[in-house]
Amino acid sequence: MMKDHLVIFDTTLRDGEQSPGASMTKEEKLRVARQLERMKVDVIEAGFAAASPGDFDAIRSIAETVKESTVCSLARASENDIRRAGEAIKPARSGRIHTFIATSPIHMEKKLRMTPDQVVEQAVKAVLWAREYTDDIEFSAEDAGRSELDFLCRIFDAVIKSGAKTINVPDTVGYNVPGQFSTTIRSLRERVPNSDKVVWSVHCHNDLGLAVANSLAAVMEGARQVECTINGLGERAGNAALEEIVMAVRTRQDIFDCETRIDTTQIVPASKLVSSITGFPVQPNKAIVGANAFAHESGIHQDGVIKHRETYEIMRAQDVGWTQNKLVLGKHSGRNAFKTRLADLGIVVDSEEQLNVAFARFKELADKKHEIFDEDLQALMSDEAVTPEQEHYKLISLRVASETGETPHARITLAAGGDESQSEADGDGPVDASFKAVERIAGSHSELLLFSVNSITGGTDAQGEVTVRLAKDGRVVNGQGADTDIVVASVKAYINALNKLVSKPEKVNPQV
Ligand code: KIV
Ligand code: ZN
Repeated sequence: MMKDHLVIFDTTLRDGEQSPGASMTKEEKLRVARQLERMKVDVIEAGFAAASPGDFDAIRSIAETVKESTVCSLARASENDIRRAGEAIKPARSGRIHTFIATSPIHMEKKLRMTPDQVVEQAVKAVLWAREYTDDIEFSAEDAGRSELDFLCRIFDAVIKSGAKTINVPDTVGYNVPGQFSTTIRSLRERVPNSDKVVWSVHCHNDLGLAVANSLAAVMEGARQVECTINGLGERAGNAALEEIVMAVRTRQDIFDCETRIDTTQIVPASKLVSSITGFPVQPNKAIVGANAFAHESGIHQDGVIKHRETYEIMRAQDVGWTQNKLVLGKHSGRNAFKTRLADLGIVVDSEEQLNVAFARFKELADKKHEIFDEDLQALMSDEAVTPEQEHYKLISLRVASETGETPHARITLAAGGDESQSEADGDGPVDASFKAVERIAGSHSELLLFSVNSITGGTDAQGEVTVRLAKDGRVVNGQGADTDIVVASVKAYINALNKLVSKPEKVNPQV
């Protein structure tokens, strides 16, 4: 029997990016979009075009680049937002406008200050404006999870009549539980006229840890699009995790009467890419993409797995893209091998000049670390993704003295806007001393919210990957740095975050 197609709508670049500190540069977004396309995601929500000129630009570039997935922009139900979204997706081979307005009593009264009649009228206008750009229109009733069913039926009826093709039911604040949410979806599908002419979609947040469970409960009731993000990234506790939705549907084909077209072997590379770009680490026990997800620690389990894998494994690690750490390149590898491996990893190098710079840095790394793994190349190229205009501060040199019984001391030379400056500082440890020396030059007065170090691969010669989160005047940014010397990696991450504070313009959050 032919199964229904379950549309996977990825919103890592929009809802995921709304997560404090997860904002990405245009180049970073393009890398994620290419990976999503490689994974065969059906719809990529590339951003919120009206947020800022930078967001508009990023969506447009993704629309120009991506060919195999539909490229979508979010828009509030206002004429300006919809025209920005329509212009941004214009180059796409297949483009969608996703417009939304809040429908819960609390949102209509306290946030929008609109009557229910006005909300319906605005929703209809929004769909009609969107039709000037595309037939592929999605309508979302924000906070549907706390909206009245009768009102949802009324507004959905109106937007379907106006031309909306996908109807999304978001549990915006993660308030629902599976039994109740599935009843909502069933009732909507039964009561809304022409419900069989549209695709029903769900978008669940994870405030109670139920985003995936709620989404799957809705799929059992006929939802045929799930909105989700890589690693469950998203506002507050995040969105439903793409990898969990996809693998649940694939693993339990005995109970789901639909299937996705996702290339599951691209899941782990996508997870690593998003984690390294945003600096949000993946917890080791996270389903599917956590480092321990397929590790059999206990003797009993190992014995069972050796005798017969299925005793304890319901999925195969390689099916979701876990591979043995592969030695890919070494210090004798040539430029061509380097370029080919980058291409295999989906990393596109735009110019010969960029390739030369990246290759020189690869050789430097290969001198320090004899075995270069895919993860090392990914970290190396994340550093390369910084464009000169984002690089106000640049590390020239760092000298750190640290000895038992002595106060750690750092001396640093930075290029700041083209001029070189030097400073020195003592600290509690070598990282603290180095950060203080950097701050003496930068004078950012930012607050350090997070400092975390991960090793990229195994072994004491592994590169350390550091994330630094800074806050200033209500803005939060994450910086990343990788190096075989973790003090250098820390300083690189700190400088990367400072550069983001200097260069990243303010943008509007669509839901606030
Ligand atoms: O959570 C939400 O309601 C949203 C909408 C804009 C779809 O992100
Ligand atoms: Zn959301």
